[in-house]
Amino acid sequence: MYAIAIDGPAGAGKSTVSRIVAKEIGFLYVDTGALYRAVAYSVLQNKIEPTDSKAVCALLPHMEVRLGYEDGEQQVYLNKENVTDMLRTPRVSAAASAVSSFGPVREFLFSQQKDIARENNIIMDGRDIGTVVLPNAQVKIYLTATAEERAGRRFDELRQKGENIAFDTVLADIRKRDENDMNRKVSPLRQAPDAIVVDTSQMDFMQSVQAILEIIEKKIGQGIK
Ligand code: DC
Repeated sequence: MYAIAIDGPAGAGKSTVSRIVAKEIGFLYVDTGALYRAVAYSVLQNKIEPTDSKAVCALLPHMEVRLGYEDGEQQVYLNKENVTDMLRTPRVSAAASAVSSFGPVREFLFSQQKDIARENNIIMDGRDIGTVVLPNAQVKIYLTATAEERAGRRFDELRQKGENIAFDTVLADIRKRDENDMNRKVSPLRQAPDAIVVDTSQMDFMQSVQAILEIIEKKIGQGIK
């Protein structure tokens, strides 16, 4: 099986780019952030403070988080309910960043990520895929862009969805999440030593897709044909 690990900070375009690249080469796309978001969503539903590690961890045995696929699109099930459309709000983003810093939450989601990679050719995106989850991935990419550029993209996305939010709020959120993701004790966001950095600050969407396809082609082109 082939595994392509794509890590990087929030808003670097990992999920949109990975989804298209996966379609292009016929691999399964796995968005691991959605798993952390599902835990966060459950925590919020249960009126638990996402920074309260004890209460969050106590909820884990009562939670079943599963990934599935419908027409090739990833779906996330929380206690058998499809919650995919509930996970991409600023509130869930902030809570996901908080709960993902707890070791037991990461362990809770670990085997599922490993299992899906064992059975499929995959592109998996997240923060610790190349470093912790799939250290033997054949291709590792660290996708990044400046905080301002990432905030600008997220701002446009939220505005399009009709959310009335200020740019400065989005930028502050991105900076806070970078800070959390990079400085947490367990599995912090790090570039794997053997990852190739792709900085998309000056690239548009299709250029980012192209840059990644070229890296994959160079590394395993013969293998996937
Ligand atoms: O990629 P995302 O924005 O959907 O991720 C949501 C949060 O989950 C993010 O703040 C960091 C965390 N996360 C993580 O810690 N490890 C991963 N492999 C994926 C996401």
